[in-house]
Amino acid sequence: MAGGRRTMKALVLAGGTGSRLRPITHTSAKQLVPVANKPVLFYGLEAIRDCGIRDVGIIVGETAAEVRAAVGDGSRFGLSVTYIPQAEPLGLAHCVLIARDYLADDDFLMYLGDNFVIAGIRSFVDDFRARRPDAQILLTKVADPTQFGVAELNAAGRVTGVAEKPSRPKSDLALVGVYMFTPLVHEAVRTLRPSHRGELEITDAVQVLIREHADVSSHVITGYWKDTGRVEDMLECNRMVLENIEPRLRGTADDDSEIVGRVDVAEDVVITRSRLVGPLTIGPGAVVTDSYVGPFTSIGPGCRLEGTEIEYSIVMDRSSIRGVPGIRDSLIGKDVEVSPAAFAPRAHQLIVGDHSRVRLNR
Ligand code: G1P
Repeated sequence: MAGGRRTMKALVLAGGTGSRLRPITHTSAKQLVPVANKPVLFYGLEAIRDCGIRDVGIIVGETAAEVRAAVGDGSRFGLSVTYIPQAEPLGLAHCVLIARDYLADDDFLMYLGDNFVIAGIRSFVDDFRARRPDAQILLTKVADPTQFGVAELNAAGRVTGVAEKPSRPKSDLALVGVYMFTPLVHEAVRTLRPSHRGELEITDAVQVLIREHADVSSHVITGYWKDTGRVEDMLECNRMVLENIEPRLRGTADDDSEIVGRVDVAEDVVITRSRLVGPLTIGPGAVVTDSYVGPFTSIGPGCRLEGTEIEYSIVMDRSSIRGVPGIRDSLIGKDVEVSPAAFAPRAHQLIVGDHSRVRLNR
């Protein structure tokens, strides 16, 4: 091969049901929930591109149509995307099994589409390419290792074992959802049996490699990482990204409006008699009137806010919030309408979808 550099592909996992993000995930893939007005999955795709990888296989499940509509052929990310359908969510190692033909005999980076790594992964991929161990995993210290795959290292820092969601974790080092493999992993995957949750676990495949004395190396990442399963995780990622947002005012704000701090306002946004306190972002075509938009808030494209106060929240495309003060820590889906009830006194009228969560403060 030219330059001696092996081709490396990426396998991105974008299936799964996202039950902890319902009702948002009734109509959308969890990987497409926006953080600072950009789907979580896109951050991963950009990180993959930044590693110099071009060929990406995306595993899709029930939400295949939305993922395809959002990502397309990948050309806008500088990637060439192939979709690999997974009929049932049978586990992360099952994804490797069904991607066998696509991956061929290339090394690959496996990336869980709901994982969020702020500092990127390029140095780890470069290191893998340079040294080419049989596999390389990324680890990070967590407060509750029982919720993750957990690695055990010896004094020399070598991985001596991994276990999936152990009840008695041997360390506080969780496996981050980013893995690098040579084709040797295919042999390990073929030997797996379903775990107690009925899935073929990638952690078990790594354990097989370790048991067979393969060279499994690891890096401990110290930057921000999140597995975005829950609403709190989405809001936290949103805060982390907004923390570094570039201020930019492209829409229009009238003289009666005040803009404080790092505020990113997209084109065609109209701000009237409102106070914006960053860091925050407002998507194209949104209209903000007589409102307060506070820190760590992402307002999606085409939203309308009127007589409203909101902070620490994510509002998705085209939603309208009228006459509601004091919204915070909220995740609001697409095309939602929030407005005061017409009845008095103190009546709430709720028309909310299955698995919605509403917290009212009377
Ligand atoms: C998966 C892996 C686990 C890893 C985690 C990282 O867990 O099985 O080992 O630590 O991703 O996000 P799951 O999200 O399937 O529960």
